[in-house]
Amino acid sequence: MQRIKTLSEYFKKYELSEKDPAKFWSQIADSFLWKKKWDNVLESDFENADFQWFKNAQLNITENIFERNLSQRGDKTAIIWEPNDPKESPTYLSYKELYKQTCTFSNALRSKGIKKGDRVIIYMPMVPEAAIAMLACARVGAVHSVVFAGFSAASLADRINDCEAKMVLTSDGNFRGNKTIPVKDVVDEALEKCSSIESVIVLERTKQNINMEDGRDSWWHECIEDQPKTCDSEVMDSEDLLFILYTSGSTGKPKGVVHSSAGYMIYSSYTFLNVFQYDEDDIYWCTADVGWITGHSYIVYGPLLCGATTVMFEGVPTYPNVSRFWDIVDKYKVNQFYTAPTAIRALQAHGLEPLENNSLDSLKVIGSVGEPINEEAWHWYHDNVGKGKCPLVDTWWQTETGGIMISALAGITPNKPAHASLPLPGIIPVIVDAEGNELNGNNVQGNLCIKSPWPSIIRTTYGDHKRCISTYFSHYKGMYFTGDGVKRDHDGYLRILGRVDDVINVSGHRMGTAEVENAINEHEDVIESAVVGYPHDIKGEGIYAYVIVSTKLNDDEIKNQIINVVRKVIGPIAKPDKIQIVSGLPKTRSGKIMRRILRKVASNDFQNLGDTSTLLNPDVVKEIIDGAII
Ligand code: WTA
Repeated sequence: MQRIKTLSEYFKKYELSEKDPAKFWSQIADSFLWKKKWDNVLESDFENADFQWFKNAQLNITENIFERNLSQRGDKTAIIWEPNDPKESPTYLSYKELYKQTCTFSNALRSKGIKKGDRVIIYMPMVPEAAIAMLACARVGAVHSVVFAGFSAASLADRINDCEAKMVLTSDGNFRGNKTIPVKDVVDEALEKCSSIESVIVLERTKQNINMEDGRDSWWHECIEDQPKTCDSEVMDSEDLLFILYTSGSTGKPKGVVHSSAGYMIYSSYTFLNVFQYDEDDIYWCTADVGWITGHSYIVYGPLLCGATTVMFEGVPTYPNVSRFWDIVDKYKVNQFYTAPTAIRALQAHGLEPLENNSLDSLKVIGSVGEPINEEAWHWYHDNVGKGKCPLVDTWWQTETGGIMISALAGITPNKPAHASLPLPGIIPVIVDAEGNELNGNNVQGNLCIKSPWPSIIRTTYGDHKRCISTYFSHYKGMYFTGDGVKRDHDGYLRILGRVDDVINVSGHRMGTAEVENAINEHEDVIESAVVGYPHDIKGEGIYAYVIVSTKLNDDEIKNQIINVVRKVIGPIAKPDKIQIVSGLPKTRSGKIMRRILRKVASNDFQNLGDTSTLLNPDVVKEIIDGAII
């Protein structure tokens, strides 16, 4: 695969991708390994959300990681694994070794009855086996669904049941900073509510005492004993499912975003190579967790498809101290470093001292993902981590897009603080107003849509295609609606303004306000609740909950209990930062909560609350303002 090297080449490729997408994408696809080539590059129907890329071709994505790379890069390090505890030895897995371990585990999956199309849940720590699990599923044609290991038993059970998974891959426990998390207990609790699971494979990591259920649970190391070290890869059609990843939306339960084999393969690798400008001997590190799309596309698939060396980190940026990220950069001489604004802001709060003992000389490119990066954090990151010499790629994309959509190409597209900048080749972003009119030209602001299909566009929401159509393809005819607001500035650069729907972005994690409300409402003393986001210095957005209760408990007690309910129903990442107990919520005469007012109050912006005269209960606004938690 050729990498774009200059700005004029970028513009040329962009033009080609717009004029002749089939030619553009087939040239890229030609460098991959196909078991059978395609009949047609693209068939697309926005109205029915029906996209077929590389129609009727056959492949296996793991052949493109292994068979395609092994002859040239067999001894090259594929994964460097840095454990939670810096005193524990790291693991270096060469492409050959990763191949062997993937094949061995693929055979273990097959021996447990896993076959093409079966769904397998991965609920694991950030260890190489998590990547091996994903790759082994892909090798045998099973559909993996990685669930972030911070989610609660109830959330895990929901996901297992939604996709009727047959197997769970997990560990005895997870190390995270100075904590040991009993994830197997969470799995056991979840499985009480799941009937589809036939087997559980448990990786030994923390060596803590756990329950192993006879006939259902087995140890990873025992499963791979005596398995052959090679394994035929399953023949996958281009559109066969590769994985499901659950993500939050503005309504209801999280939905299972589906990605298929060929398009995702092409797009994740193409964007990896071009955005980060990866050179053959570079060491690349993305700090995400494999439980999120960033981990899928830019720790595992994108880098490995490109034959890159990818660092996987088990721990957290603050353990054993706040220099940890920078220690790791120096330890492995990381060249490309990709993280989230929330991590930058959290580290920025500790000042420059934690950076003093590190040279960070190896860095060539730094990246940001997951939420808008504010200018202050951008400059801090650029000046102190990138030492003013590294291009900063602010990459905008989503679980549904599979790969980076709007971003500078490192060192090629001129940087502009806090701007994601320009679309990648093949991506046609448009700005629309509420009525769906396209706002052309510069200096315009509106909702961000994408007008052209790209290879890793969401294929469906698992088990409910209508939901996929109504969420993404019905707001604006013939377009994919992102849910984000955007501004095109006077230079034509795009700046993402954040969500325009009821999704909040807390530390780069997507959270549906309705989802948090549903969790809060599970407390028996809660009558009603409304959740909004508010600006938070570190997290980007914090969770502010207004709750009506009928309880004998005092305010502190009920608030603590509500937080515990949310932890139990969703997980710690969803717990409200602020809870205000109120006697009522501002509602319109038709009974709709006026969130606009709640958002303003939560943001400490009591002026310009707008017209409150249409409210059913205007008095409640004064009470809410008086009791606001600042
Ligand atoms: C937000 C993460 C501004 C955005 C890859 C999007 C961003 C949501 C950026 C998707 C960015 C992601 N600048 N906002 N560079 N990257 N977002 O599905 O609101 O976890 O819709 O995918 O994160 O979050 P998701």
